[in-house]
Amino acid sequence: MADNQATLTVDGKDYQLPIIEGTLGPSVIEVAAFQKAGYWTYDPGFMATAPVESKITFIDGGKGELLHRGYPIDQLANNAEYLEVAYALIHGDLPNSEQKADFFKKIREHTGVHDQLRKFFEGFRRDAHPMAIMVGVVGALSAFYHEHLDVSNEEHREITAIRLIAKMPTLAAMSYKYSRGEPFMYPRNDFNYAENFLYMMFATPGDVDYKPNDVITRAMDKIFTLHADHEQNASTSTVRLAGSTGANPYACIAAGIAALWGPSHGGANEAVLEMLDEIGSVENVPEFMEKVKSREVKLMGFGHRVYKNFDPRAQVMKETCDEVLGALGINDPKLELAMALEKIALEDPFFVERNLYPNVDFYSGIILKAIGIPTSMFTVIFSLARTSGWISHWLEMHSAPFKIGRPRQLYTGETRRDFVKVEDRKQK
Ligand code: CMC
Repeated sequence: MADNQATLTVDGKDYQLPIIEGTLGPSVIEVAAFQKAGYWTYDPGFMATAPVESKITFIDGGKGELLHRGYPIDQLANNAEYLEVAYALIHGDLPNSEQKADFFKKIREHTGVHDQLRKFFEGFRRDAHPMAIMVGVVGALSAFYHEHLDVSNEEHREITAIRLIAKMPTLAAMSYKYSRGEPFMYPRNDFNYAENFLYMMFATPGDVDYKPNDVITRAMDKIFTLHADHEQNASTSTVRLAGSTGANPYACIAAGIAALWGPSHGGANEAVLEMLDEIGSVENVPEFMEKVKSREVKLMGFGHRVYKNFDPRAQVMKETCDEVLGALGINDPKLELAMALEKIALEDPFFVERNLYPNVDFYSGIILKAIGIPTSMFTVIFSLARTSGWISHWLEMHSAPFKIGRPRQLYTGETRRDFVKVEDRKQK
């Protein structure tokens, strides 16, 4: 923290605004004095607004750097397991071997869901989008853990984090199994986190010897790590805002899942594949690019609000993508089309001038398709992985005093006017 100040002058009167330095990244100007001056700040899309102080994740969009608790994302993705990353997000440091064993054990102990929860699945149509199901069933967990959950109790908060991280793969796989009309698979706790998820997704009760492929398991675990957290993005801010009211944390995470679903955020990985379907084949790429340039459509999986040079997650994901496609010997025309599109976009001045690069969702969609995950499950997998980030932010918020999040607005509606009886109202 520094004692630098900015001066705001309004109607000839000066207000001192403290400038607060973080450990990395731009300093912030504390704008509470605006209120004293009779003004609010106006920043649609939160382009320059830091509503919170956080120690979890740092992004330098210009440098293409992403650090979780200080650790670079490529080092984490290439060396750590997702659950170790989740531990670091929650606790501040990577676990030592004892802490790791204890945390992994706790996660394994909580992978099951209450049997009554199955009934919720039966309420959905078989063709319901799995993200819709996830919003519903994760929100429904709040009914199972409410009466005895005290969010001001540290132990209760910690067990909530464990439960959520442990149960998300189970619920995600159940939403897939339900759509296929196949029986739910109970978690296998002799498998690691990624293996267990793949098992619950793809095994059937007859597959007694089912063992997921190692390359696919590693790729899955990396996908989880690369999606684990991304500081104050739309869904995390949603979780924090919902949490700031003291709401049940399972309901807060359901709100995060809803925010993630949109195609500008987590829904982009699904939208990439839909876009590839629409383009059809490599010959149609130039025509599609014209539509992008005339702003008829966006090139899904490209561009990012924060990364304006490259997305460090996309770099690791691209390597994994090559690894998976190579190892599985996959020769899918859609994947060829994706690679052609990437090449053309990276060279086209429209994209170069606007700093539009492939983001994490471009490659994750391709890998997920290659390993046989249906498109509609892509964002579900993102939500499974992001749960560790969401809950870390929720925990961070609850570990210190906080205010309810309550933004203000620039009002441009009608000024005060009197009520008119229905028979006297003019037709518009
Ligand atoms: N395709 C074509 N043009 C684009 C794209 C795109 N994907 N993204 C941005 N632009 C253009 C945009 O039209 C604008 O051009 P101009 O200045 O000529 O009007 C310029 O680039 C700046 O765009 P912006 O909309 O101001 O950028 P933003 O920071 O508000 O939006 C974004 C960021 C991610 C919403 C946007 O790039 C986008 O919609 N991308 C496609 C969806 C996508 O892949 N989202 C996943 C993001 S990564 C996963 C996650 O963290 O959620």
